[in-house]
Amino acid sequence: MSAGDPGLLGPPTAPGPTPPTGPARERVIDLQGVTKTYGAAEVAVHALRGVDLVVEKGDYVAIMGKSGSGKSTLMHIIGCLDIPSTGRFVLDGVDVRTLDERQLAAIRNRSVGFVFQSFNLLARTTAQSNVELPLLYAGVGSRERRRRATAALESVGLADRASHLPSQLSGGQQQRVAVARALVTDPALILADEPTGNLDSEATAEVLGVFERCNAEGRTVVLITHEPDVAARAKRIVRLGDGSVLSDERLAAVDAVPSGAVHR
Ligand SMILES: Nc1ncnc2c1ncn2[C@@H]1O[C@H](COP(=O)(O)OP(=O)(O)OP(=O)(O)O)[C@@H](O)[C@H]1O
Ligand SMILES: [Mg+2]
Repeated sequence: MSAGDPGLLGPPTAPGPTPPTGPARERVIDLQGVTKTYGAAEVAVHALRGVDLVVEKGDYVAIMGKSGSGKSTLMHIIGCLDIPSTGRFVLDGVDVRTLDERQLAAIRNRSVGFVFQSFNLLARTTAQSNVELPLLYAGVGSRERRRRATAALESVGLADRASHLPSQLSGGQQQRVAVARALVTDPALILADEPTGNLDSEATAEVLGVFERCNAEGRTVVLITHEPDVAARAKRIVRLGDGSVLSDERLAAVDAVPSGAVHR
């Protein structure tokens, strides 16, 4: 490791771009000097080069940045799908370095709901069963699974499509099924990696409406997007470049009602 390794030195101590917020709130995400390096020696890729990021409960954050800037890597770390190479990450008050694989899986299942660009629904499985899946993994009984999945499908406006297969649904509807699946375990944190990347503007508006209602209910939402229109509806925009935070812009207070949630 070279002496100039930025991961060891950490960021400069100049005042960081901490956006103004109201009174101190619970920190759901707290990253300090987080680096992620894939591979070693001459093939090493420095995907994250010392990221400091605090996200408070109830915030709605859009992460933007060029392809390869480290957005998905950051999201995988926040969602406990991966661990930092160096630095500190505290999720919901728990330092993830203290957790073993099993505990990481447990915190992930309990606290985080994931939504991906490609929906990731099981093709030969109904909307209802897709949404029940995380509960099946969590060992929830069949009647309770059915009840909670039905409620989650209702919350995304798809109660009448429960018995449809993904191929019988539009892209926007499939993504709303994926959002219902993310919500069914009642997570405090929703992480979405380009959730509207494959959707037209109408379907994008539907999916964002669901996120905004979730946020209005107090859930924290972190969403990666390339689309300025999508980012503009968040409360805060964090821009990454080459594995570092370039800017951190607050658009609305953490406890504001998101713009889309008022128009149902
Ligand atoms: N598993 C991996 N092994 C090696 N390198 C990786 C791995 N995952 C990501 N990288 C590299 O890390 C860097 C950041 O990748 P990341 O997927 O986080 O970018 P991104 O900002 O999400 O890009 P995009 O907008 O294209 O999705 C890239 O240079 C990428 O090639
Ligand atoms: Mg990505």
